[in-house]
Amino acid sequence: SSDILTDTFGRQHTYLRISLSERCNLRCQYCMPEEGVELTTKEKLLSTDEILQLSELFVREGITKIRLTGGEPLVRKDLVNIIGGMNELRSLGLQSIAMTTNGVTLKRKLPDLRKAGLDLLNVSLDTLIPAKFEFITRRKGWDRVMSGIDAAIEHGYNPVKVNCVVMRGVNEEEICDFVALTENKNIDVRFIEYMPFDGNKWNFKKMVPYDEMLKTIREQFSTLHRLNDQPNDTSKAYRVDGFKGQIGFITSMSEHFCGTCNRLRLTADGNLKVCLFGNSEVSLRDTLRNNTPPEDLLQVVSAAVKRKKKQHAGMLNLSKMKNRPMILIGG
Ligand code: GTP
Ligand code: 5AD
Ligand code: SF4
Repeated sequence: SSDILTDTFGRQHTYLRISLSERCNLRCQYCMPEEGVELTTKEKLLSTDEILQLSELFVREGITKIRLTGGEPLVRKDLVNIIGGMNELRSLGLQSIAMTTNGVTLKRKLPDLRKAGLDLLNVSLDTLIPAKFEFITRRKGWDRVMSGIDAAIEHGYNPVKVNCVVMRGVNEEEICDFVALTENKNIDVRFIEYMPFDGNKWNFKKMVPYDEMLKTIREQFSTLHRLNDQPNDTSKAYRVDGFKGQIGFITSMSEHFCGTCNRLRLTADGNLKVCLFGNSEVSLRDTLRNNTPPEDLLQVVSAAVKRKKKQHAGMLNLSKMKNRPMILIGG
């Protein structure tokens, strides 16, 4: 691979997150406004074929991990074909195909996803109380998510990573209950600091910082200890002695991990987004549809990567900055 995907700070980008849809069957408060967001018309979304063409181009330049996101990736009808197409990129260097889902319709789709080549599965779940699930997501579905997580473990996703966005006054009192889940289940619970995005009503007081979460957990689980993180991990890993699963913290706000960032994003409408919080984007869809030769398309990619900033602007600035709503980014 060349240095097309290396930025001006020497960071090599090996992880591509692809949003497959702007739609979702939930309405999580931290992700989208109640009234929803304006959706892109179908012709302007990337087709199966375009997604696979771009994936191949990126894998040839050094991407080794692709994560499928949304909206909700499971609402995409051609999902299994997309995964199947990506599975053929392994010979070019792709090592893992991952997905982040809300889990609501996961269970019945698991066998096909597994067969098509999906390796890694992260499921979002912010509460263990069904009524609270309905408050956070503005929809029903808690029991389906829970059975989706259990079914995923049975299908060989070991561990399933459970993403829990912690919000003060909403679910911060459930942190220890989530830790207790890791005692006997092979899940890795990751507590995520609440991040600001357009339309999600973030404020500083609603964010529960890493150090506070740690303190709360240590009061109940005194043997909690730090583990080694993988090189480009978004999370800081821990385990309670003797527990089967791990816990982790994604500290984007209080202790960002931009220095080891290896991630690029492709939005459902075909824009390359080089930082979760960056608002400079470039359309790969339009470049692709103009029959631009691959070398020129790669120059567009390279120029965008070279514009990537060293780190995000800091939480208070981010909360005032224009960005997409989370539903249109995919995490
Ligand atoms: P793994 O590949 O399993 O480590 O998952 P991941 O953390 O890369 O992806 P996931 O979709 O599970 O995202 C979990 C949380 O991490 C979400 O809140 C994301 O928004 C956040 N996250 C993922 N990548 C980045 C990143 O590059 N920067 C920041 N600040 N947050 C990120
Ligand atoms: N802050 C932190 N994490 C968020 N996610 C969605 N919105 C936010 C937010 N405002 C998480 C979801 C999902 C992942 C892709 O991003 O819970 O697990
Ligand atoms: Fe990478 Fe931007 Fe996330 Fe920092 S905020 S880790 S630079 S995507």
